Amino acid sequence: MKAFSLTLACQFFLGIDEPHLAEKLAIKFDDLCSGLYSVPVYFPGSAYIRALKASASIRKEIQLLIKGKIDALSNGHVMDDLLAHIVGAEKDGKYMPKLEIVGLIHASYTQMAVTLAFMIKHIGQSPDIYQRIISENADIRKSKGSLDWEDIQKLKYTWAVAQESMRLYPAAPGTFREATTDITYEGFTIPKGWKIFWAIIGTNKNPRYFHEPESFDPSRFEENVPAPYTYVPFGVGPRSSPGKDYTRYVILTFIHSLITKFKWEVMLPDEKVYGTLIPTPVEGIPILSTMAEETKNPVRDMPIGLVGSMMITTLGYCLLAVTLCLLQSYKDFDVDVPFSVAFSVVGWDWAKYIVALGALKGMTTMLLVNIVGESRYLTHIA
Ligand code: HEM
Repeated sequence: MKAFSLTLACQFFLGIDEPHLAEKLAIKFDDLCSGLYSVPVYFPGSAYIRALKASASIRKEIQLLIKGKIDALSNGHVMDDLLAHIVGAEKDGKYMPKLEIVGLIHASYTQMAVTLAFMIKHIGQSPDIYQRIISENADIRKSKGSLDWEDIQKLKYTWAVAQESMRLYPAAPGTFREATTDITYEGFTIPKGWKIFWAIIGTNKNPRYFHEPESFDPSRFEENVPAPYTYVPFGVGPRSSPGKDYTRYVILTFIHSLITKFKWEVMLPDEKVYGTLIPTPVEGIPILSTMAEETKNPVRDMPIGLVGSMMITTLGYCLLAVTLCLLQSYKDFDVDVPFSVAFSVVGWDWAKYIVALGALKGMTTMLLVNIVGESRYLTHIA
């Protein structure tokens, strides 16, 4: 999930298409993320120092990219990524700090990956939820090949699953504010100028606002809108997350592609989740996935395909056995080459060449099917 989120963010925001560069940045963003909420200890090797180093190194990479974009733009190249637009806009006298883009990539990386990972977990371990998502997504797929914003609006239940995932496992822990005046709340006073950290999780598991808060129930977002300020995964007010629509688009498009091509099972349903600020599954949510790329509705079509092909094959074998018995007594069968011998017995010598050709085709098909199957296991599932 992390590799996917970062690769996408690098393409969309920075115009980086080479996966190895995204991989290089991933290590730095991981260090940055671990130090983001750490105690600021200036000690070599501390999370804070590693985060500072990672941040400086990311900025250096972005400066290089900016320089490349300035050169490319001045040579008349057309580029569609956000950084190129920012650099281009600055040329026209408008201004947005270019290095702010680091924050956008960071948000599109960790938070997106966490939300997607927990969605995959919950979908994979709840057959009812899986079934509802698949039928909602299959309806959309019937009408068009790819998703546009109009389709995204229709994926209401899938988004409810994402919202419920973010309620139980909020990808962003909260954010800092500064008290602009003295505040007294429940007997405590927060003096003006103090920094406050407001935690998103605070109300998410409160039974006053969410019935049976520990259970995963996406329908709560279909039936009712949560009370104001009780559910705010993207923050609230003028500083709320500008990435909400991007997040919604990426999550729903990703889940749509995944559910229409794969079926998966969660290997450790009771896997522990640690991390006080960013929820982190201990084993990384291992899943067992089966490919169902060619099927429109894997849950329905895969069993039909498997049982159907077994029935056709069985029928074929029965017909062959009947034909063989009509050609020759079963006591005289040659178990190594029954058809060739049976055809010779009735004087159809030429037919053994057709049998040989059929056997050759059968063996080649088997080999090719095995190669395709194995490469899929190795590249997609293993
Ligand atoms: C699951 C995905 C995401 C979650 C849960 C999330 C959550 C949040 C939260 C809680 C805040 C603080 C809001 C506040 O202070 O009231 C925030 C701020 C912000 N987010 Fe996100 N975010 C997500 C994705 C993104 C993405 C994809 C981007 C960029 C494309 C982004 C860009 C930002 C920025 C720039 C801010 C600072 C806004 C400001 O201070 O004015 N976020 N986000």
